[in-house]
Amino acid sequence: MQPITLALAKGRTATSTIKLLKKAGYCFEDFHEKSRKLVFYDTNQLVQLIFVKAVDVPTYVEKGAADVGIVGKDNILETAADIYEMLDLKEGKCKFVIAGKEPTILQKKRLVVASKYPSITTHYFEKKGIQAETIKLNGSVELAPLIGMADVIVDIVETGRTLKENGLFVLEELEDISTRLITNKASFATKTSKIENFIRNLQLALEE
Ligand code: PRP
Repeated sequence: MQPITLALAKGRTATSTIKLLKKAGYCFEDFHEKSRKLVFYDTNQLVQLIFVKAVDVPTYVEKGAADVGIVGKDNILETAADIYEMLDLKEGKCKFVIAGKEPTILQKKRLVVASKYPSITTHYFEKKGIQAETIKLNGSVELAPLIGMADVIVDIVETGRTLKENGLFVLEELEDISTRLITNKASFATKTSKIENFIRNLQLALEE
């Protein structure tokens, strides 16, 4: 039987997702946190797991390179990929926030905002009718207000440690984020029972 392909985000949620998959009956024996391998199969050869950069997961799924994906809502929103969002895995919980050195900065007529999420950032300020220039960064976003490159950042906050250790504060909370299971639309039509089984098993594992 042909396995379904699952795209999984590399990084902080990978290990907990692998644990959840094991609970759901999909065991990736040769996976370990430090592995550099990018493709794994579960012991029953039902799932081919591919590790990709988190922000690319929705694209792999939209293009059909993966039938299903597990990725944070932040990256789903940012890519606006044409996929089905099927299940909230309630892991990787964090928040989208605007953060900066002090609240009065938001009163500026024109803001410079640094973010790994340029699309979300631009849409948010447009919707609010606030003039903002978005600077796209790929990481260490908290530096931007510290060195005067941006007034504020739009980023995800999990424990709040990165903000705290860099003297930044949450100025506004935008949205709750968690990992979601997404599917390719065509795969869902052609591999319905396989994908539905996979989702059901994950759902049961979540309820345990
Ligand atoms: C994310 C995010 C924050 C940090 C928040 O970055 O962009 O910088 O985590 O987590 P905390 O609230 O628990 O401190 P990530 O660790 O993915 O690194 P990056 O800056 O290289 O993108």
